[in-house]
Amino acid sequence: MSDPPISLSWHYHERTKYDPETIARQGNDLDWDSQPDPFKTYKLGKTIDLAAELRSPSSDRLGRLSRLLRLTYGLTAKIRTLSAPMFLRTAPSAGGLYPAEVYLVSRGLPELTAGLYHYQPQPHSLLRFWDGDVWGELQKSTFWHPALEDTQLAIVVTAIFWRSAWRYRDRAYRRINLDIGHLLGNIELASSVHDYRAHFIGGFADTNADALLYLDPDVEGTMAIVPLADLNDIQQHISPGPSALASDTQTDYRDIPDGQLLAALHQATQIDTDTDALQPNSEAAVEDKYNFPFCSKIGTSSRPIDWGENLSGLEIAILKRRSTRAYSGASLSLAELNFLLDFTYQPQHYVEQGLDNAPDYFDLSLVETFIAVSAVEGLDDGCYYYAPYSQELRQVRFKNFRRELHFLCLGQDLGRDAAAVVFHTADLAKAGEKWGDRAYRYLHLDAGHLGQRLNLAAMRLELGASGIGGFFDNYVNQVLGIPDDEAVLYATTLGRPRSY
Ligand SMILES: Cc1cc2nc3c(=O)[nH]c(=O)nc-3n(C[C@H](O)[C@H](O)[C@H](O)COP(=O)(O)O)c2cc1C
Repeated sequence: MSDPPISLSWHYHERTKYDPETIARQGNDLDWDSQPDPFKTYKLGKTIDLAAELRSPSSDRLGRLSRLLRLTYGLTAKIRTLSAPMFLRTAPSAGGLYPAEVYLVSRGLPELTAGLYHYQPQPHSLLRFWDGDVWGELQKSTFWHPALEDTQLAIVVTAIFWRSAWRYRDRAYRRINLDIGHLLGNIELASSVHDYRAHFIGGFADTNADALLYLDPDVEGTMAIVPLADLNDIQQHISPGPSALASDTQTDYRDIPDGQLLAALHQATQIDTDTDALQPNSEAAVEDKYNFPFCSKIGTSSRPIDWGENLSGLEIAILKRRSTRAYSGASLSLAELNFLLDFTYQPQHYVEQGLDNAPDYFDLSLVETFIAVSAVEGLDDGCYYYAPYSQELRQVRFKNFRRELHFLCLGQDLGRDAAAVVFHTADLAKAGEKWGDRAYRYLHLDAGHLGQRLNLAAMRLELGASGIGGFFDNYVNQVLGIPDDEAVLYATTLGRPRSY
């Protein structure tokens, strides 16, 4: 009997794996003449100057919103190049290509009349490009999600696929979702700093949401809808609804040519308005997935990271965050590693500092964490499974993997010289059973969100961090001993930055 056909998302994952044999064929030639513009512009609209709101807020609400949007996706550095300068932002982006766009939908506030607003990072302003009551349509797109009942504002994050596909071709869909996961991490944390509670909605009717924002579905798409509950308004203290809904699982596909896989996957992950596959968020897992027999176990419990008065240190970390470009190779202490893990995976330890004890993810019960340790004082070198409920590291394989990590990360020195490399993984079959093809988005969004927490914790501790979206997928499992069912989603390197 032949095996049942695999889902399109799984097929996509297999087809977009990097492999030493085929990577050259996947091509790396860039057509500089068609280099995408990282900024979206509108011909018409009314500008709301958010930069002025940073200096002297005209109202508490607009001042907080200006700060929130700056922390979400604002520009934080300018790099000279031979042509136009390149701008870096609070959220990292694979290859600095910034496929994400940020919109704001207002239900109607004295400072922000009802309508659609586009966030323009370069001047740090909002452009109102559509006036009118669109809230009802937004609610309809989310199947009347409870978080939109009493809120007045929602951020919508979209992606312009070509910006990333220009360089990464079909594999770009992975990086786009990872990028947006980082950006959602900023929204989550910046909301706490500025008295909002962000609710992530990843299950929505795509066609409706795209139409609401006047997106061109051939080139861009809605990726997350984020109602912002204003915590200064008691009415808006709402009980959360589901973050994720299931899509269908597509198994009837044939011979999708290279170059069309990304679009085919985006299509397959969509939810129809008339879907009958909707389901509530399942209960969170209550136990760690792996417990290897006879493995050594090392507890990781730690004091929480201190984010300073009123989370001022968190705001600074978001604004100053940069991806580390080179590590010295020096060790981290076990205490430093434990701090990083504590902030990333134990949000309940940060309630007293004003952060959310259970921030929204799409389905964290499906994402696992493995850590290749090359230089952590007090820890044997090797690969470990991080058990978040038990808060311990469980050793999978003993060895110093520096040389192998260099290879696994496509020859990037960051992999070799990092003190530790965190791999997020998931069982695609299991995830697909639960959420259909849309699981593929959720897994990468959540992995990016965790990546952002790791990055910010590293900033606060004056350590280095950088994401790595390109790796030899299958070899990561083989070499590090990560179970074969675990598809590698993302790598985050951690270590001591090299000083020049
Ligand atoms: C999903 C993702 C994948 C990335 N992959 C790599 C990588 O493979 N190698 C690398 O050097 N940097 C990688 N980066 C870091 C980006 O190059 C970096 O974010 C971008 O240049 C902007 O710089 P900044 O993070 O300092 O703002 C990645 C970042 C993200 C979010």
